[in-house]
Amino acid sequence: TTFTAQESAGFCSVNGSVDSNNAGYTGDGFVNTDNASGNAAVYAFNAPSAGMYSLQVRYANGSSARPGDVLVNAGNIGTFDFSSTGSWTSWANSNELSAYFSAGNNTVRIQATNSGGLPNLDSVSV
Ligand code: GCU
Ligand code: CA
Repeated sequence: TTFTAQESAGFCSVNGSVDSNNAGYTGDGFVNTDNASGNAAVYAFNAPSAGMYSLQVRYANGSSARPGDVLVNAGNIGTFDFSSTGSWTSWANSNELSAYFSAGNNTVRIQATNSGGLPNLDSVSV
């Protein structure tokens, strides 16, 4: 499942905006947090069955690294490195994390760990 910045595809909320001014994203736009630590993007995943799932984000980062902690159902399951991709129009895949999902609804919160906020997020694949 790939979540883009669309309500219908699992995107729930962001401390920021959904933008379209940097080319190369898929779907309706990309998720742009305001630049501050703690700012987050939240997605919902309705798992067909309980078990381990792999998570990866397609993102762009024209700045220095902006790591994001990942909380699944409020439990910290690791960190996306979100190293620089060189420009805001160069999109790349993050490191992969695996996490346990319950059957049914789960929330995935990606939360900035430094003052830059998160990079721009195109989609989250589970
Ligand atoms: C630029 C870019 C934004 C990005 C921002 C940032 O302004 O166009 O899309 O979110 O930098 O530093 O976070
Ligand atoms: Ca931003």
